[in-house]
Amino acid sequence: MFYPKIIQGGMGVGVSNWVLARAVSIAGQLGVVSGTALDVVLTRRLQLGDPEGHIRRALDHFPFPEIARRVWDQYFVEGGIAPGQAFKQVPLITINPPAHLLELHTLANYVEVFLAKAGHAGEVGINFLEKIQMPTLSSIFGAMLAGVDYILMGAGIPRAIPGILDQFSRGEAASLRLDVEGAAADQEFHTTFDPKIFCGGQAPQLKRPKFLAIISSATLAMTLARKSTGKVDGFIVEGATAGGHNAPPRGVMHLSEAGEPVYGERDVPDLKKIADQGLPFWLAGSFGALGKLAEAVALGAVGIQVGTAFAFCEESGIDPITKANVIERALAGNLRVHTDPLASPTGFPFKVLQVDESVSNPVVYNSRVRICDLGYLRHAYLKQDGSIGYRCPAEPVANYVRKGGAEADAAGRKCVCNGLVATIGLGQILSGGAVEPPLLTAGDDIVCNIRQFIKPGTTTYTAKDVVDALLA
Ligand SMILES: Cc1cc2nc3c(=O)[nH]c(=O)nc-3n(C[C@H](O)[C@H](O)[C@H](O)COP(=O)(O)O)c2cc1C
Repeated sequence: MFYPKIIQGGMGVGVSNWVLARAVSIAGQLGVVSGTALDVVLTRRLQLGDPEGHIRRALDHFPFPEIARRVWDQYFVEGGIAPGQAFKQVPLITINPPAHLLELHTLANYVEVFLAKAGHAGEVGINFLEKIQMPTLSSIFGAMLAGVDYILMGAGIPRAIPGILDQFSRGEAASLRLDVEGAAADQEFHTTFDPKIFCGGQAPQLKRPKFLAIISSATLAMTLARKSTGKVDGFIVEGATAGGHNAPPRGVMHLSEAGEPVYGERDVPDLKKIADQGLPFWLAGSFGALGKLAEAVALGAVGIQVGTAFAFCEESGIDPITKANVIERALAGNLRVHTDPLASPTGFPFKVLQVDESVSNPVVYNSRVRICDLGYLRHAYLKQDGSIGYRCPAEPVANYVRKGGAEADAAGRKCVCNGLVATIGLGQILSGGAVEPPLLTAGDDIVCNIRQFIKPGTTTYTAKDVVDALLA
């Protein structure tokens, strides 16, 4: 069995876009697109006029042209919307989404994977967060329609996913149990996706992608290896220095003087026990540096997953001005990452890169008027009348409290959805003309990760530079 030595991590909303994943795959490693909020990414790119025609190219290959046509007609703006004009919003996903929303999610995932795979024979993966559950089925199906080779999932316990991949590969319907706050243990809520209905009769047989679960402990590896609904093909073992969300420390969370979660011996994963599962694994979190691949292999891993080093290379989706600014500050040694236990509505610690123009700056954070108009991190909850409601601790506090949320839970929360979308230059225009501020994330070793790839006299580097250096 051939396994990539380097997996380029799934990042953000659109940080690991198809351009980056494709470049890494062409360089012979596993390029991974982020599967988060691709409906927003697709529809906003269309509203910017799809200037290079890439989306059009992908839509032309989508096996259900009438769906592609509907989405195109609804969102494409010739020449792009006027500067300062707000983007048309996508309806928020719910437990039982209407057909047109399932179509949009399916199509958006298809497009990203199709473009990443186009014109070469390398493999491509897509990354999802377990905590974002409602769009998962249609997103997976769209990625599989485009022939995705790997599905990666973290931020939760994705036991249900392997079986879903088996079902979709056979053209069968699948359902996913949703977490609903306030529901009794025996009260189950599911979301369902039936390929036959989507395809209007006969569903195609599809390649079953490999499934890699992103974990941080041997206990989770054992649970997933033994109790999943189908075959788990490997693990990404991610440490607490990695960019993005981190697993919380085990036991009661203690904070350092700087207000960051303190990790200890109990949080170091037992690699021997993980290896005992007999599945390949990759190490992630500060492995994007020279010599680290060999170190990982010596620890029993087949390779490494790297995020931060790729996040700031030329091909990544981060807005070019922000990227240049971060690289300049990394070279000056003037960058700090804060592991914020509160920022993310998921409740997981989230690494926030401290950049003045972003919501990491208290002035920017406090001047932003809370709004929840993307809604991926909303929690489903059981209302008193037995129906399902949705609330997010980062939404306007009064709304959250009216929906039964505790005011204390809303304190310090950042709108990760809007912040991440703004990071790739697709931020919404707010009333008054301001743009949603970005929210940047990176691993603890960002300065060293970036510096090692910048050659004298240059200020940028490519994905291939990263791959070549890490393999050397
Ligand atoms: C900008 C950025 C965004 C990330 N977003 C996600 C994400 O949405 N989902 C996820 O599972 N991991 C995410 N990660 C984690 C990466 O996939 C990868 O595991 C991690 O970056 C590896 O550690 P490193 O940053 O030290 O290289 C993100 C990392 C970065 C740097």
